[in-house]
Amino acid sequence: MGIRLILLRVFLSGILVLLATSEPSEDKLALLDFAKNINHSRALNWDIRTSACNLWIGITCNHDNSRVIAVRLPGFGFRGSVPSNTLSRLSALQILSLRSNGFSGPFPSDLSKLGNLTSLYLQFNKFQGPLPLDFSVWENLSVINLSDNAFNGSIPSSISNLTHLIALNLSNNLFSGEIPDLNVPSLQLLDLSSNNLTGNVPQSLTRFPNAAFSGNQLAPEVSSPPVLPPNDEQPKKKSSKLSESAILGIIIGGSSLGFLLVAVLLILCFSNKEAKPKIQKKPKKELPFKKEKKAISGSQDGDGRLVFFEGCNLAFDLEDLLRASAEVLGKGSFGTTYKAALEDATTVAVKRLKEVSVGKREFELQMEAVGNIRHENVAPLRAYYYSKDEKLMVYDYYLQGSVSTMLHAKRGEKRIPLDWESRIRIAIGAARGIAHIHAESSEKLVHGNIKASNIFLNSQQYGCVSDLGLATLITPIAPPVMRTAGYRAPEVTDSRKVSQASDVYSFGVLLLELLTGKSPIHATGGEEVIHLVRWVHSVVREEWTAEVFDVELLRYPNIEEEMVEMLRIGMTCVARMPEQRPKMIDVAKMVEDIKKVNTGNRPSPETRTEESTPALTPLAMEIASSSIQQ
Ligand SMILES: *[C@@H]1O[C@H](CO)[C@@H](O)[C@H](O)[C@H]1NC(C)=O
Ligand SMILES: *[C@@H]1O[C@H](CO)[C@@H](O)[C@H](O)[C@H]1NC(C)=O
Ligand SMILES: *[C@@H]1O[C@H](CO)[C@@H](O)[C@H](O)[C@H]1NC(C)=O
Ligand SMILES: *[C@@H]1O[C@H](CO)[C@@H](O)[C@H](O)[C@H]1NC(C)=O
Ligand SMILES: *[C@@H]1O[C@H](CO)[C@@H](O)[C@H](O)[C@H]1NC(C)=O
Ligand SMILES: *[C@@H]1O[C@H](CO)[C@@H](O)[C@H](O)[C@H]1NC(C)=O
Ligand SMILES: *[C@@H]1O[C@H](CO)[C@@H](O)[C@H](O)[C@H]1NC(C)=O
Ligand SMILES: *[C@@H]1O[C@H](CO)[C@@H](O)[C@H](O)[C@H]1NC(C)=O
Repeated sequence: MGIRLILLRVFLSGILVLLATSEPSEDKLALLDFAKNINHSRALNWDIRTSACNLWIGITCNHDNSRVIAVRLPGFGFRGSVPSNTLSRLSALQILSLRSNGFSGPFPSDLSKLGNLTSLYLQFNKFQGPLPLDFSVWENLSVINLSDNAFNGSIPSSISNLTHLIALNLSNNLFSGEIPDLNVPSLQLLDLSSNNLTGNVPQSLTRFPNAAFSGNQLAPEVSSPPVLPPNDEQPKKKSSKLSESAILGIIIGGSSLGFLLVAVLLILCFSNKEAKPKIQKKPKKELPFKKEKKAISGSQDGDGRLVFFEGCNLAFDLEDLLRASAEVLGKGSFGTTYKAALEDATTVAVKRLKEVSVGKREFELQMEAVGNIRHENVAPLRAYYYSKDEKLMVYDYYLQGSVSTMLHAKRGEKRIPLDWESRIRIAIGAARGIAHIHAESSEKLVHGNIKASNIFLNSQQYGCVSDLGLATLITPIAPPVMRTAGYRAPEVTDSRKVSQASDVYSFGVLLLELLTGKSPIHATGGEEVIHLVRWVHSVVREEWTAEVFDVELLRYPNIEEEMVEMLRIGMTCVARMPEQRPKMIDVAKMVEDIKKVNTGNRPSPETRTEESTPALTPLAMEIASSSIQQ
């Protein structure tokens, strides 16, 4: 026994040593030195005790976690010069992105120690002064983007020693003098526009479009801007037009998909890093609000900044977001949701709000309230963006889609039915999430938009509610949108007048939807529109209770009593009078107890009906109708 214990100890300490050594400890110290010596407005979760490779924001390690190979810190509000002898100690670094910050001071020339650097992104900062003369130290550099700074002096001719260079962007700086003869065959993208360059375009660079040199004081024959060569500006214009109309097409198409497809898909920022196939060759559509781009580029605070919440590993800025390839996921009552695939293979869901009816301050307060909710059954809000013309919310993207999709998509075709256990887990999770929201911020918070298309599965496959707290911010779209209407409590005529009791009602509708497999408002064969709650009432009243249940559920044995129990809870929640509805915390307990019905641990005293009524129908009817009459 004792020997075993000792062996176990030895084994465990071996693992600990392994774990400890599989951290790039020198690199961590270098990064912490960097963080200590620079002011920034967005928090870095860098803690010496945690794993830099797995947890530190903006950090990527190599395969065995022995070295840091990428540092991406865009949009952290850094101010001041890059502290010397910090990042330059990350000798295995390949990608450095410090763009969209407020860095000033000279080019961090000690980075010349980073011989493995392949990509350097410093654009959108306030760096000044000349570039280092010798670029040949970075023999592996392939992408250089220094645009939108205040670099001056001449463009170093040593850049032509970079034999792997693919892209060079020095636009919007103060470079002067003549353009050096950059004879780099690998170079594909060049942008020297908006500087103070003079002379002629060297022969080796004439293969680049005129736009690459515009906004300088070059000799006239090259830089007469209005005469655009046919293969430069025109196709560009065309393609941007195309994608705009394509997006419009998607939006229009999306809206006619009906209420099934408000489906928002999200992903956890951690879970999508692996398993991302590199088949991203489908046509890219950028998010259709590029006009904002100008607004963000300069300002580091206040308006026009993506505000991230703590504990999120996402590292991108609005610019990345705008350039992400976008796909409309659905149009909801509060706006359109896009799936946005960023260049670093992160995928997020971006909700673009329309008709926000409150001012900046109130909006921000609500976002803070929502964004600070951390619960396993509440989909976290990762970031938001507020400017006069544009309000965005960034969520995780859930690969499996919403509960609405799981319940309703491909009905009648071959589909994997949503089994009973899953439906119970969805109900339990959603109930806990809503109960938590109701308990937050001294019970003033309301979800306001509970419906199957706003419920997703968390990593334990339990329900997880999204899209909360918007109802009070948004001017309702009149006339009321059908797809929300089916979930809406009768007393809610204006979507801003939601309450915790109306959340309970909507949750009840969700339970009925899970049970019946029917949408809250659905058309039958004819023109008739069916309201789920009324339909369930009528079916139960007329004693064909068994018909109430989703045919997909009929294949599972021994679940009748659980289904009836869920029906009972659902009916209780959709009580007409708000004060008759139970509190969400109690609903959550009832839903958790559904599984106990069969094992005889049933908490409610209604067991009396069980002996005398073995058949399903009368029991269901009795229970259901008794709760209607309350
Ligand atoms: C951070 O900002 C404060 C106030 O502006 C300044 O006193 C301090 O020197 C700055 N620290 C660094 C490391 O730049
Ligand atoms: C350039 O990259 C190659 C391959 O990754 C590497 O072997 C070489 O050391 C790098 N160059 C420098 C100067 O580090
Ligand atoms: C570049 O990376 C290689 C391995 O990828 C490493 O052996 C080499 O030392 C690195 N170069 C520098 C300058 O650190
Ligand atoms: C570059 O800018 C610095 C300060 O921003 C200035 O001192 C220097 O004279 C400038 N050099 C040139 C060549 O314009
Ligand atoms: C390119 O590199 C070589 C050796 O590193 C150096 O002698 C030469 O001057 C460099 N070329 C330019 C244009 O700087
Ligand atoms: C940086 O410059 C490169 C090369 O011109 C370009 O491909 C890339 O899109 C630029 N990045 C941004 C954020 O503009
Ligand atoms: C250069 O970078 C700027 C800003 O990052 C971008 O707007 C421009 O499109 C880039 N130029 C090229 C040719 O990629
Ligand atoms: C551009 O260069 C000219 C002389 O070549 C100089 O007079 C002018 O001040 C420069 N402009 C800027 C913005 O540096």
